Amino acid sequence: METRSFSVKVGGNAYPLTIGRHLEGELRKRVAMHPRHRIAVITDSRVGELWGPHIIWALRGLSHEPALLRFPAGERHKTGETVSALYDKLQKRRFGRDTLIMAFGGGVVGDIAGFVAATYQRGVPFIQVPTTLLAMVDSSVGGKVGYDMNNVKNLIGAFNQPRAVIVDLNFLSTLPKRQVLNGLFEAIKMSFIRQRRSLELARKLNLVNPLKTSDVLQEIVWRAVRLKAGVVQRDEKEQHERKILNFGHTVGHSIESLSGYRKPHGFCVALGMLVEARISERLGILSSNDADLLEKYLAAFGIHRSELRKYSIADILAATRSDKKTLGGQPHYILLNSIGGVRVDGGRYAHPVSDAVVKTALSSLRQ
Ligand SMILES: NC(=O)c1ccc[n+]([C@@H]2O[C@H](COP(=O)([O-])OP(=O)(O)OC[C@H]3O[C@@H](n4cnc5c(N)ncnc54)[C@H](O)[C@@H]3O)[C@@H](O)[C@H]2O)c1
Repeated sequence: METRSFSVKVGGNAYPLTIGRHLEGELRKRVAMHPRHRIAVITDSRVGELWGPHIIWALRGLSHEPALLRFPAGERHKTGETVSALYDKLQKRRFGRDTLIMAFGGGVVGDIAGFVAATYQRGVPFIQVPTTLLAMVDSSVGGKVGYDMNNVKNLIGAFNQPRAVIVDLNFLSTLPKRQVLNGLFEAIKMSFIRQRRSLELARKLNLVNPLKTSDVLQEIVWRAVRLKAGVVQRDEKEQHERKILNFGHTVGHSIESLSGYRKPHGFCVALGMLVEARISERLGILSSNDADLLEKYLAAFGIHRSELRKYSIADILAATRSDKKTLGGQPHYILLNSIGGVRVDGGRYAHPVSDAVVKTALSSLRQ
């Protein structure tokens, strides 16, 4: 496989994003560009156990010995307590303004480590080294960092762009199938909003051992990050176009919080996409053919409408009010005109939808 890379240009700066296998050389090169910095590799307990020795080996012989700082794995630990514990570890080890943080893990690690980098000593540089498919196709690009509070997703956060994103697909060799699917749903989301022709690609991925179909894997990641980077370049702070990346997320985030963060993010977004496509259909925007096709497509990956029965309609509606797209108390949704096309209305990408319409869509799906 050939290594592929491009430059993400955001807010007057640019950073390289590289996708390939065996990227230890690239990693060392990017770190060596900060010769006076001490490296703090932030990871979670699981990635630390599986890949901690490898990353320390990959960074051997650089000017400073890297420190590996871990926190317990899982969305339940994407909290202010975890952030404080990391500040504490950095301070106790006398990390100063000459710190380079490496976010080494899935989306939770990227969001937490990126936030620590945004705030420790008023901000230190950081590099993203994603290890889940979800982090590779989505969360490591775009600079959104933060954590959950009071059961609200990403309530506290910042925009903080990394200095580099290094996507070494080899890390996926230990990723369980459920987590492969979890990431694939965010890639499929990109197809639903903009890249209908990429839908075929996801079907060709070996879900148990994605590296067996490594060219397909690289192409899926490549298309997703190209799309995301393009959107972020045009609208870093999510004032307009970037909102489209939230398709499936108004209901998805509600389900995620109602599940007590036990259901993985991508699965919640997949259920959210199912509901939000049906909302689009109810509003007469999306054809029934396309709504059916979307449902059938997700069903082939194990997402079924019957799962929605686990959550009460009232609870879902109540939880949508905490969504960040809510304006004047009215939840907003990304709607589809077609598979591959989002609704844009007078320059607006997120649209208010009445509870009555959401309720009808949910009721019919729960039957
Ligand atoms: N910042 C953004 O733009 C953005 C976008 C999408 C999602 N997110 C966030 O990303 C998070 C979800 O990310 P995630 O799905 O990667 O979750 P995660 O980081 O919790 O990773 C899932 C699990 O996989 C384990 N893991 C990681 N790499 C592994 C590997 N190579 N082998 C085996 N196990 C591995 C982790 O330890 C964890 O237990 C959510 O918090 C979501 O809000 C952020």
